[in-house]
Amino acid sequence: MDRIYLCLAHMSGKEQQYIQEAFDTNWVVPLGPNVNAFEDDLAAFVNRNEQKPLSKEIVALSAGTAAVHLALVMLGVGQGDEVICQSFTFAASANPIVYQGATPVFVDSEKDTYNMDPQLLEDAIKDRIAKTGKKPKAIIPVYLYGMPARIDEMMEVAQRYGIPVLEDAAEGFGSCYKGQVCGTFGEYGVMSFNGNKMITTSGGGALICPDVEAKKRVMFYATQAREPYPYYQHEQIGYNYRMSNICAGIGRGQMTVADEHVKHHQWVHEQYVQRLSDVDGLVVHCAPEAYMQSNYWLSTIRFEDNKHTITDGLLPFVERLNEANIETRPLWKPMHMQPVYKDAPAYTNGVSEWLFQRGLCLPSGPCVGEAEIDYIVNKIKENL
Ligand SMILES: Cc1ncc(COP(=O)(O)O)c(C=O)c1O
Repeated sequence: MDRIYLCLAHMSGKEQQYIQEAFDTNWVVPLGPNVNAFEDDLAAFVNRNEQKPLSKEIVALSAGTAAVHLALVMLGVGQGDEVICQSFTFAASANPIVYQGATPVFVDSEKDTYNMDPQLLEDAIKDRIAKTGKKPKAIIPVYLYGMPARIDEMMEVAQRYGIPVLEDAAEGFGSCYKGQVCGTFGEYGVMSFNGNKMITTSGGGALICPDVEAKKRVMFYATQAREPYPYYQHEQIGYNYRMSNICAGIGRGQMTVADEHVKHHQWVHEQYVQRLSDVDGLVVHCAPEAYMQSNYWLSTIRFEDNKHTITDGLLPFVERLNEANIETRPLWKPMHMQPVYKDAPAYTNGVSEWLFQRGLCLPSGPCVGEAEIDYIVNKIKENL
């Protein structure tokens, strides 16, 4: 069996045509017809809604991390501010808070979704106000491995305190909550098209914006904050964060198969659920509510026993699977446990530490078919 990776890029076949068009018309720059059309495709994708279509606007950017950063800029986050961020996540959710000179305040997860605990979020807000006399400037929940968060509950808390929400949906492309696409609930939403994501532009991201005005402003910051003068005039600090027209060509091709990709990941997850259900103490993580449709970007398992933990047994298990040519990966190490964030305030309940101890991501991408599932499931059972 060839090596089975967690999630590899998978082309539709149309990507080259859009790239060729860019070369033929000499749009080899970070703007152009592919960027505009990719943004339109993404807007149509996120604005689908079971109740009533939304009217969000999209700005295509060089990375998901750039999208997190620009959303914080738009929300006015600066020196001396605090921003609440889900602790159980990849570092890119939190690092841009520090780029802005602000302090991340980490909030732990609840066990059902692995995402931010709404009750703990409220406790944290109250405590920050009591301790600093100031409200946190923004809240960043994350859709970990594609799983919808308890976004209604979090939006209710956020609205009560008047704090804007920036959803990190980098892993949640196409996941839905009550029929609405994740990333469209808060003020801003982040998408990532890194090589390992649900769809890719090789590297890239996008920011879901509330309206045309916000889109224009985000584009201004993403293109060096150049003022409308006949010469180069700068009155604010900007960034070079726009997506290349070549990368956007890949994105347009990928959008023709985006729904298929999501369905495939969901199918892979269903296979793991069916075929691993007989393993004692092993739990395949599933959406806890019928109204949460995860894209299952990565299927994850956890061991309820203490034989497979990071401190004892899990890493040798990862190594045995590695020797069998299967890539797996421990769940994200929570930000409040990271040395770089040791001084950041954190509101914890033990859930993310417990999950980090005993959780693994399994291969879930387009290259995982029937034969690979059989092989992976057998190897998991053999190597326990
Ligand atoms: C939760 C999360 N946030 C943000 C990012 C950043 O996205 P990018 O790699 O496109 O900068 C990623 C992925 O890389 C991610 O997993």
